[in-house]
Amino acid sequence: MNLKILLVDDDELFCLALKDGLPEFDITVAHTLQQAIQEMKRLCFDVLLVDNSLPDGNGMELINHCRKFNEKTKVIVITAYPSIKTAVQAVKNGAYDYLTKPIDLEELRIKIEHAQLAIEFENIQHLQDRKQNYEKAVLVGSSHIHRQLEKLASKAATCNVPVLITGETGTGKGLLASSIHQMSERRKKPFVQINCAALPEHLIEAELFGFERGAFTGANQTKYGLFELANRGTLFLDEICEMPLSLQSKLLSAIETCEIRRLGSNVIRKVDVRIIAATNIEPEKALKEKKLRSDLFYRLSVLHIHIPPLRLRKEDIPLLCQHFLRQLASGKNISIPPEEIKKLQDYNFPGNIRELRNLIERSLILQDGEKLFPSRFINSNSTSSTTSDGQPIFEPHFELYKIQNFSQNEILTLAEIERLYIEFALRKTDYNLAKTSKKLGISLSTLKRKIKLYGLQKPPNQKNDFRNLENLLQRFEPFSKIFIQNE
Ligand SMILES: Nc1ncnc2c1ncn2[C@@H]1O[C@H](COP(=O)(O)OP(=O)(O)OP(=O)(O)O)[C@@H](O)[C@H]1O
Ligand SMILES: [Mg+2]
Repeated sequence: MNLKILLVDDDELFCLALKDGLPEFDITVAHTLQQAIQEMKRLCFDVLLVDNSLPDGNGMELINHCRKFNEKTKVIVITAYPSIKTAVQAVKNGAYDYLTKPIDLEELRIKIEHAQLAIEFENIQHLQDRKQNYEKAVLVGSSHIHRQLEKLASKAATCNVPVLITGETGTGKGLLASSIHQMSERRKKPFVQINCAALPEHLIEAELFGFERGAFTGANQTKYGLFELANRGTLFLDEICEMPLSLQSKLLSAIETCEIRRLGSNVIRKVDVRIIAATNIEPEKALKEKKLRSDLFYRLSVLHIHIPPLRLRKEDIPLLCQHFLRQLASGKNISIPPEEIKKLQDYNFPGNIRELRNLIERSLILQDGEKLFPSRFINSNSTSSTTSDGQPIFEPHFELYKIQNFSQNEILTLAEIERLYIEFALRKTDYNLAKTSKKLGISLSTLKRKIKLYGLQKPPNQKNDFRNLENLLQRFEPFSKIFIQNE
């Protein structure tokens, strides 16, 4: 990806020579102050190469102008009159560097590359401030589905169109988004993400588009929006259906025009950002429930990648286990026996790959020895506190005061909680009604009435029926998280 440079010099031949000599950069030329200002209004530049003396004024005036359009722009002043005074003045005024004519092309190239590094460093600093991390995204698997996903991801990486990733929670949407970015030409530029469910409406807007100082109460300083931070890189909009509809139309317009305006500013800024969005809600449902604007959906889903749940690609489990062991217990000689892998493949993993990872992490914490048995931590139906070989089973307590941890987005009604809790108790006692009613402190007849009311009759094939648990987990954070908290 080319660095965008604005070269401002009235000497047309000199401009042509520089353009020819620096083909690796994307150079726009202006011959006067006024032309330069027009160009800055139109495009966002990384570097300004400006001659000190221009027909309509002093080139250094542009230092202040360009700050208004893009604080990150690095200005390199070119002066035909080598004097240390002019150079010092230029740097004092905020220029990044200076150069004297006649220009040594190699010297100029190095200065531009330094400016580029400085910009990248600033970007990384911004991102680190936002607690972004640059973990390498490795998609692991061996199933046919996995190979299809890899193929689609590499296709997505070779083009710039928006991508919509759908799939249940924990299937790897975030990982896939970051892997597309890392395989793309944009890999050296920022991968910036925002979780639309985690922020209130006005904050999402300020985060995405940025704001000028004084734009609203509390806006004490100008802030870059994520679109600007992600310039030349990728912006990952997670949980897109949680974005308010009014903001969705603003987002659509930004995507279509490649232009944004900070809150409280009239200046339109060009941005070059690749959009990837994700949701764990089926798009058809989201459209029907008016959680997603249809125009935005069509714009985002130029490429739609659906990640199937782990239960439909259980062949991936062995490799995933190895991968997580390497990640979580590197350097230790710990393995999962083949029979144990088979047990894991018998389970349906409603929390998908995240649940598998958490399971392995939990067993690494709680088990000793070189053989790991993560499946021992799955069985929430068991009432015994030890397995047949005497290993303690981690028995979580379903604590109602931790209900908040279930979901960051919804508040349940008391009836829903009652239904969930009765269901949980029934499953813990393997549908022993007498035991359940005793544990719950209600009469057997009340329990029966509530079972009927909430439709909680024992499923025909209880052991393999994960529908209820799945429904539960689709709505909440994976159980595993709660279990660890209970520990
Ligand atoms: N194919 C894979 N190979 C290795 N690790 C994976 C794979 N898919 C997912 N993971 C891991 O599983 C965990 C969950 O993945 P991720 O956070 O990307 O899921 P998600 O679909 O975005 O979930 P949510 O909808 O809850 O945001 C992460 O730790 C991720 O690194
Ligand atoms: Mg995610």
